[in-house]
Amino acid sequence: MAATPLRERKAWQALERHHAEIAGQHLRDMFASDPGRGERLTAEAAGLYLDYSKNRVTDETMRLLVDLASESGVADRRDAMFRGEHINVSEDRAVLHVALRMPSTATLVVDGQDVIADVHAVLGRMKEFATRVRSGEFRGFTGKPIKNVINVGIGGSDLGPVMAYEALRYYCTRDIAFKFVSNVDSTDFAEAVHGLAAEETLFIISSKTFGTLETLANANSARDWVVSSLGSADAVASHFVAVSTNAERVCAFGIDVANMFGFWDWVGGRYSMDSAIGLSTMIALGPEGFDELLAGFHDMDEHFRTAPLESNLPVLMGVLAVWYRDFFGAQTVGVMPYEQYLKRFPAYLQQLTMESNGKHVTLSGRHVDYDTGAVYWGEPGTNGQHSFYQLIHQGTTLIPVDLIGFGKTLNPIRDHHDLLSANVFAQAAALAFGKTEDEVRAEGTAAPIAAHRVFEGNRPTNVLLAEVLTPRLLGSLVALYEHSVFTQGVIWEVDSFDQWGVELGKVLAQQIIPELTTAEEPPLAHDSSTNALIRKYRSLKS
Ligand code: F6P
Repeated sequence: MAATPLRERKAWQALERHHAEIAGQHLRDMFASDPGRGERLTAEAAGLYLDYSKNRVTDETMRLLVDLASESGVADRRDAMFRGEHINVSEDRAVLHVALRMPSTATLVVDGQDVIADVHAVLGRMKEFATRVRSGEFRGFTGKPIKNVINVGIGGSDLGPVMAYEALRYYCTRDIAFKFVSNVDSTDFAEAVHGLAAEETLFIISSKTFGTLETLANANSARDWVVSSLGSADAVASHFVAVSTNAERVCAFGIDVANMFGFWDWVGGRYSMDSAIGLSTMIALGPEGFDELLAGFHDMDEHFRTAPLESNLPVLMGVLAVWYRDFFGAQTVGVMPYEQYLKRFPAYLQQLTMESNGKHVTLSGRHVDYDTGAVYWGEPGTNGQHSFYQLIHQGTTLIPVDLIGFGKTLNPIRDHHDLLSANVFAQAAALAFGKTEDEVRAEGTAAPIAAHRVFEGNRPTNVLLAEVLTPRLLGSLVALYEHSVFTQGVIWEVDSFDQWGVELGKVLAQQIIPELTTAEEPPLAHDSSTNALIRKYRSLKS
């Protein structure tokens, strides 16, 4: 824990002075006076090339931001994480998603237990199971092989699996259909099973706690569907497996622990796609592909653990995020993958970033006097360009954007990929340099219309480039953002690994459920708005 409150750190105060000096500078002038910055302000690791030159920074800014990371104790805290210390202070837990991707030759003893041996024991069981499902050796209740796998989970027990499946679909078996049910809205379940044969369907009930309302409701509906379709409660054993840390609840639901794949309380939900929560990913990709994914995570972990802060990709992205959030007041960050397979990546990042750093107190419980986590959002390019990019270019809000591009497409057709990639570079340049009124006029547009066609520019971007989207690269990309989130959390001195903010709504929903379902309206003791809404709902329902 950094001893000094953030605003009192030397580097923070130096950054405040520095910001006052450079906030008015335009990227146009920064590039004009320093043409080398496009090649210098870059870094590369684990197959990812980061161009951060189109940020509103100078070498001095970067030096001060790295000083801030250093003074905030990023390296010490990172090392404490890798050692398995209980850095999740509000839950008194280790934070060891990095152990999930360590090789079997590593050892890491935490709280008296070799966690690497545990991780590889579960991986071994997952591999055996995934291979049997993929080969058709695993049979359903009526003796048929599995043609549909449905992951039932929500939050971290859904977003990682669905994102990875979409991202790596090119590498996945096409012999099995993969579906993901998360929402308690019955439409999600109904549409997922529509037209499917229960005898060919395997449900993976994924829940760290096995106590999540949405997942249990969907799991119960799945069980009803299997039992009624196959005419026997005995069918459950052949069509359900569980992924959880809670064996007792899994048993109580009716799934044999022999069909359960475990993980540990030191894996946060949003950091769990490479644990047993990735079982659907492993069935889809195959065990070797999953190993590649883990290797990619580990590549970035090693870079984060060993590279100097000034050339450390997650640290650079983390400090830049702090720079815009706290010094420029940027409230949101756009993440735009120019790769259709990454269409669910922004949704995945929303939980990773916002559940981690959307916090208002420090580790010691003091209310922060600075801004913490930004809102993350995004869409694949080029689709976003034809909808919300207008606001990024000409709106009144500063939105730093990460643009993610690839040298090669997995589906080469005509010149589509060059058309796509040209847009990555064009957007980054347009956002940075814009178009002045003089340039507009020189093209023949006179006032007052000229003003509408001016692009102020000075909008910052990071451009991430990789060769091609592979399982390994996806692992590195996710780990890059995980550790960037970590870096921000250390600087802000928040607990990036708890999520108390999701609790209140859950408790209130539990109170309200019976008030919606009883035949007679019960006495309602909420605020007048909630009471009126419940009454209106009951009348609409009836
Ligand atoms: O409500 C938030 C949350 O606790 C997330 O942190 C978590 O990923 C999700 O719910 C699902 O939890 P579980 O895996 O225990 O069902």
